[in-house]
Amino acid sequence: MFTDLVLASAHHVLVFLLAAIIATEAAMVRPGLSAAGVKRLSRIDAYYGAIAALVILVGVGRIVFGLKGWEAYIYNWAFWSKMAAFVAVGLLSARPTLQIRKWRMSADDEAFTVPTDEIAATRGFIIAQGAIFPLIPIFAATMARYGY
Ligand code: HEM
Repeated sequence: MFTDLVLASAHHVLVFLLAAIIATEAAMVRPGLSAAGVKRLSRIDAYYGAIAALVILVGVGRIVFGLKGWEAYIYNWAFWSKMAAFVAVGLLSARPTLQIRKWRMSADDEAFTVPTDEIAATRGFIIAQGAIFPLIPIFAATMARYGY
C-alpha cells in the first residue's frame, strides 16, 4: 500500500510538472525570442526530457508494483489509449527540441533573435502538444475505473 502511495504521489507531481513545462514553452516561444530567452528555454527543454523519462519510470513502476497488478493494465484499452496519447505528445516534442538545440548554438551571440518563421513553425508543435496532453489524464481516469 505504501509503495503504491509513493508511486502515485510521485506520478502526480511529475505529470503536473510536465504540463507546467509545456505551458512555459508555449509562453516563451513567441516572436522576439532573444539569445537570453533561448538559453533559458534550452534549460527548460532539458528538464522536459528528464521529467518525461521519470514519468515513464514511475509509470512502469506503478504497473509493476501498484496495487492492481500489471494484468489490470496490459489488457485495458484505456491504458493503451493513454500510452498512444503520451507517445503522440512525445513525438510532437521532438521537432521543438531539435529546433531549440539549433537556436542554442546561435545564442552565444548576444544579438541573436530567433527568426519569426521558425517561431511560428515551432510554436505550432508546442500548441499541438498542449491540445493532446489533456487526453492523457482523461484516459488515465478511465483506465483506473473501466476498460478491463
Ligand atoms: C504525461 C503523462 C501522464 C499523465 C498526465 C498521467 C496521468 C495520470 C493520472 C491523472 C492518473 C490517476 C488516474 C486516477 O486514479 O483517476 C494516472 C494513473 C496511472 N498512470 Fe499515468 N499519466 C501519465 C503517464 C503514464 C505512463 C507513461 C505510465 C506507464 C508507463 C502511466 C501509468 C499509470 C498507472 C499504472 C496509473 C494507476 C492507475 C490506477 O489507479 O489503476 N502513466 N496517470
